[in-house]
Amino acid sequence: MASLWCYLAVLLLLSSLLTLTNQTLSRSDRKKPVPKDSCTPGDPLCDKSADTPVTLDATVIDRNLVREDVKYTDVLRNHKTYSHVHAKIRFVSMETTLVFVTPWNSKGYELALTFSHKFTHISPVWFQLSPSGDISGKHDIKEKWLRKLYKSNPDLKVIPRFLFDGWSADDFDTFYGSEDRMNKMVDGVIHLLTHYKMHGAVLEIWRQMPSEYFYKFMGFLQILSDRFEEKDLYLCMVVPPSNPDPEAIDPAPYNSTHFLATNPLLDSVLIMTYDYPSLIQRPGPSSPLPWIEGCVYELSPNYELRHKILIGVNLFGNEFSRQGHVPLDGNLYLDKLRQLKPAIEWNEQSGEHIIQIDSPTDPRLIVYPSLNSIQTRIRLAERLSVGIGMWELGQGLDYFYDLF
Ligand SMILES: *[C@@H]1O[C@H](CO)[C@@H](O)[C@H](O)[C@H]1NC(C)=O
Repeated sequence: MASLWCYLAVLLLLSSLLTLTNQTLSRSDRKKPVPKDSCTPGDPLCDKSADTPVTLDATVIDRNLVREDVKYTDVLRNHKTYSHVHAKIRFVSMETTLVFVTPWNSKGYELALTFSHKFTHISPVWFQLSPSGDISGKHDIKEKWLRKLYKSNPDLKVIPRFLFDGWSADDFDTFYGSEDRMNKMVDGVIHLLTHYKMHGAVLEIWRQMPSEYFYKFMGFLQILSDRFEEKDLYLCMVVPPSNPDPEAIDPAPYNSTHFLATNPLLDSVLIMTYDYPSLIQRPGPSSPLPWIEGCVYELSPNYELRHKILIGVNLFGNEFSRQGHVPLDGNLYLDKLRQLKPAIEWNEQSGEHIIQIDSPTDPRLIVYPSLNSIQTRIRLAERLSVGIGMWELGQGLDYFYDLF
């Protein structure tokens, strides 16, 4: 009984503290009323250079920014703000949170250092494997950054992506027909990883390989997996999601048969649910929630193997107009908000925020991730007992990472 009272007392104390923080925040908000339509230099609503990083004690959750009803001004005023006090604390409970960084979005390197404790695995998109067995992309390796990253979070695992680039069916034939070639390639990969003290690899081969090569591929995967295990290296494979259109030619290019066969040889499988099939022809959501869930059930209806599944979460957005489709990174999205001053709607069905401009001359649809859409995906992953893989760090907004 005494402990129950103790517990209640702590709860009360906590909730009054929380109210206090909230009041403090709202009071200071009230002090600075923002004129509705005027814009002065230094106002992030129109001034790009005003985007100086601001750090606060409270997270986006404490500040009640994770919500369905948001205004474009909320995004412009807050996207740079995150809690520096919590930047080194991981909130999410899932086993694996992987995030990609790319050389063409170097902002991601910086963010990786700031939020190194929020992720378990970082995958720099650096390497390509050619049919000759050569590894290209070594010029992209950032040694100083790696050292800083390990110092910042010694538990973080760096697992660069290796893409099978430019392979024909004949190339796969020759490669899988020669144990020598396969071993030599694995030697090269392991040598590279150990030399730079990296911890494993993300393998991107499935979409590059004709489906009839599956059984031959299993021979290669066995070699790779055995050699990785010897060296205690982590192996993840990215795989295409199932097509929401059951009439599609190959609605499930990686299905439960493939998952059951490859799963014992891998540490994780990342379903690329950040790429909604046939997006280009069809203005609409980037990655609807029910579809993501369906992709997980497709591979694993039961919970046993779920911890090896990662769902893909996009940190980029899409804009559709009469001119066609363009992908949006965070900066482009912010530019659109400043330009269009649009209403942002929550789409319950897909679990995403969307912007719909019904102009007769220039209709547009913009879908870009939001705090609430990302939080919804974190909750989904937790409910399904899967992890998350995000494409890619530099395309997102700083305050997204407050959620992890
Ligand atoms: C998975 O796809 C392969 C063809 O690539 C097929 O042989 C197999 O039966 C499929 N498995 C399921 C469960 O549909």
